[in-house]
Amino acid sequence: MSTNSTIRLIDKLEQTRSLTREEWTDLIRSRTPETAEYLFKRAEEIRIRHYARDVYIRGLIEFTNYCRNDCFYCGIRKSNARAERYRLTKEQILSCCAHGRELGFRTFVLQGGEDGWYTDERLSDIVSSIRSAFPDCAITLSVGERSRESYQKLYDAGADRYLLRHETYDGLHYRRLHPAPLSAEHRQKCLWNLKEIGYQTGTGFMVGSPFQTAENLADDMIFLKSLDPQMVGIGPFIPHHDTPFAAEEAGTMELTLFMLGLIRLLLPNVLLPSTTALGTIAPDGRERGILAGANVVMPNLSPQEVREKYLLYDNKICTGSEAAESLNDLKKRMESIGYQVTVSRGDSLNIN
Ligand code: 5AD
Repeated sequence: MSTNSTIRLIDKLEQTRSLTREEWTDLIRSRTPETAEYLFKRAEEIRIRHYARDVYIRGLIEFTNYCRNDCFYCGIRKSNARAERYRLTKEQILSCCAHGRELGFRTFVLQGGEDGWYTDERLSDIVSSIRSAFPDCAITLSVGERSRESYQKLYDAGADRYLLRHETYDGLHYRRLHPAPLSAEHRQKCLWNLKEIGYQTGTGFMVGSPFQTAENLADDMIFLKSLDPQMVGIGPFIPHHDTPFAAEEAGTMELTLFMLGLIRLLLPNVLLPSTTALGTIAPDGRERGILAGANVVMPNLSPQEVREKYLLYDNKICTGSEAAESLNDLKKRMESIGYQVTVSRGDSLNIN
């Protein structure tokens, strides 16, 4: 496809927020540095229209790396006997929040593997304790697939938001990344349940995961359009040495940035993080993500001694400027590209 037709597709996306599967596929396949530049300019303008030059921060608390699942790509999969497992107590989690609030965080993201130790009762107790201790802060959960009743209980306990990446929309591709009984269908069902309950819901996918095609990414975009989530998290796939995908190639920064720009055009007021995985594959990855249309960063608030154990992929950054303690460094990095870190809950504007 010629540069002109690619640019016409980008304009059509901005104006109509909808492309056919073929158009998405062509647009993704025909990208060039030139068309990417054009896309990022459009994305930046739209992002500034809705969110000015603000960058929202979220304090990420990785509270357990036990997981019942065996996803082929993930370093904390059940079969990885070499992962050193840990769980944080309610007290440890509350002290992470207290520390985070001091630093300026008004959103806490509790993320973990699917760990059966955290029953509805235990997790609801943790959520309601955070809710009463930090009434001005948003609580985001990212603890995988649970029943609708469970999601409802956690919502009633005070959780506001939930992150559950769909990983890939296509059922066949999903099966090549996850063993049975995991399925794309069940994962998507969970997302619809979360939305119906009233969570501000986030989904997303890995870019450049093994076997991924441009058609798969096109389907991901069409799914995003139908789910209409409040947040979308994407990052490059990065191999982990103790997984079946150890020898697979990583996703690229170039394609990840292009997808970020496309998502900003598709869902103009969505919350879009510039993720740790993007910061891991390039030293300036997170700044580049912001310039491509992202507006959120999620520094690590986990206790120092567990950070190196929550390794979803190799070389994950967790002690440098992405750490919550180095907020000043992050602020400077954002200022250097013309953006500012803000202290607020940073709720999504994409709310019906
Ligand atoms: N590379 C990149 N991202 C990964 N995730 C898990 N393993 C990897 C990996 N090897 C992502 C998944 C998950 C999120 C918490 O981390 O998309 O939803």
